[in-house]
Amino acid sequence: MKKIGIIGAMQIEIDLLLDKMEVVDELMYAGFPFYVGTLYGKEIVLTRCGVGKVNSASCTQILIDKFNVEYIINTGIAGSLKDNIGICDVVLSSDVTHHDVRKDQMRNLFPFQETFIASEELIKLAVKACASKDINCHIGRIISGECFVENHELRSSLIKNYSPACVEMESSSIGHVAFINNIPFLIIRSISDNADEEAINTYSNFEKIAGEQSASIVSEIVRSI
Ligand code: ADE
Repeated sequence: MKKIGIIGAMQIEIDLLLDKMEVVDELMYAGFPFYVGTLYGKEIVLTRCGVGKVNSASCTQILIDKFNVEYIINTGIAGSLKDNIGICDVVLSSDVTHHDVRKDQMRNLFPFQETFIASEELIKLAVKACASKDINCHIGRIISGECFVENHELRSSLIKNYSPACVEMESSSIGHVAFINNIPFLIIRSISDNADEEAINTYSNFEKIAGEQSASIVSEIVRSI
C-alpha cells in the first residue's frame, strides 16, 4: 500500500479530512503542520501549506523528503476560466503550469517543461469518485500564479494564452516539485468563483462548500484504493 501525501492551502480545505482521519502523530516543519495517520486504514500525511506557490513548493518538498510519500494529491478551490465549468463543478488536473512564468523560460530552463502532467492513475480514481458522488467533473489544465484573479483583462489573457479550466495559487508549484522528484500527483479543485469582478463575493459564499466538496472526493479516492 502506497503512502499518500495530501495538501490543502487553507484550513477549510483540510478540515473534513482531518476530522475523518485517525491522527497518530502531528509534526511541524517550516511552520507547516503535518498530520500523520490513516484514513480508511490507508497511510496518509495531511498538511496545510498556506496560500501561494512558494508556500506550496516548500511544503511539497518537505512532504516528500521527511515523509516519503509516494503519491501527492492537492485538494482545494479555484476560479473557473471556462463558461461550461460552473460553481461547485470540479476540475481534475490534466496538467498544471505557472501563469506568471514565461513559456520560453519554462521550456528552456530546468526542469525544461512547459506544463507538468498529472497521474493518469489518480485521474481515473478521481473520475470514479466524482461519479459515485454525482459531482460534475471536468479534466483540464489548471494554472497558478501569485495573485487572486478578479478582472476581465487578466482573465481573458489567461484564457487566450493557456486554454485553462481554472486558476488558483498553489498547484503549479506542487506539480513542479512532484515532477522533479518523480512523484505522481493530482490536483482536485472545486469551483468557488468565476475569476471575474464578482469573484471576491462569490468566493466568500462558496469557499467552504467547495473546499469540503473537494476534500470529500479525496476521501472517496482514499477509501476506494
Ligand atoms: N482561488 C479561488 N478562486 C481564485 C481566483 N479567482 N484567483 C486565484 N485563486 C483562486
